[in-house]
Amino acid sequence: MNAWNRKDLVALEGLSAAEITHILDTAAAFKQVGTRNIKKVPSLRGKTLVNFFVEPSTRTRTSFELAAVRLSADVVNITATTSSLTKGETLKDTALNLQALHSDIIVLRHSSAGAAQFLAERLSASVINAGDGAHAHPTQALLDLFTIREQLGTIEGLHVAICGDILFSRVARSNIHGLLKLGAKVTLVGPSTLVPKVFERMGVTVTHKLDDILPDLDVLNMLRIQHERQRKEYFPSLGEYTAFFGLTKERAAKLKPSAIIMHPGPINRGVEIDSEVADSGRSVILDQVTNGLAVRMAVLYLCAGARGELK
Ligand code: CP
Repeated sequence: MNAWNRKDLVALEGLSAAEITHILDTAAAFKQVGTRNIKKVPSLRGKTLVNFFVEPSTRTRTSFELAAVRLSADVVNITATTSSLTKGETLKDTALNLQALHSDIIVLRHSSAGAAQFLAERLSASVINAGDGAHAHPTQALLDLFTIREQLGTIEGLHVAICGDILFSRVARSNIHGLLKLGAKVTLVGPSTLVPKVFERMGVTVTHKLDDILPDLDVLNMLRIQHERQRKEYFPSLGEYTAFFGLTKERAAKLKPSAIIMHPGPINRGVEIDSEVADSGRSVILDQVTNGLAVRMAVLYLCAGARGELK
């Protein structure tokens, strides 16, 4: 049976553990290719990828472009300000026009939850969600899973905490789905306004005391406060947030020696994580970025290059 036969990647929620593992295994093979002298493979030769980013991005946009180039695809980059969205064209019409130009893959980042699903249902081109509102960021979660597996050898049975602005975080939602599917124990931590108990319905534990859980963790994933998505103040001040939930050197010292520290970026140094911790030997933040390239190569290959070929 094929381990992957999907045109799109919109979220991890609907994927099986076998499908997620298949992406991670494919990414491991592509990471190996990246160590060769000739890093390019012909898997997407003749295909065209449009990087359509309606929200800003450094890591995701760049690594999707590099991934497509490494797979020998042609790449076009479009942003909100350079597209006719500014003239009132709808997202659907814009995407249909891109498809009419024979685009095979559309990588979409959008501020509205559901935007990628909306296009996936209307286009014959592959649609890859590069982050939609507070809903999902599947390739970020996949690269996080890949990094945990690479660093600690497994995901099953690990205790992973995600700390910070969970309410507005697409990274947190996608990580929760992926981690639970692969057998991790997940704890969410942060102020009660940003980490309400209702998240426990997803099968995770919620706590508001970071200090209490530090010694038990295998992985601590720190999130940024997403001011751009918050419509009111969720805590009294950044200083107070940092006092309770900032990962300082003292807090990091309470982690197990084997525990790793993650962050999807961009980092707000001195707010959710101290510079000394972000740059320390147990931080795998830049490994996550490196792994994003292999993971995105795997996703593009599986959705647009290898479908129907897999046994
Ligand atoms: N982690 C992440 O999505 O970063 P960018 O916004 O820079 O793509």
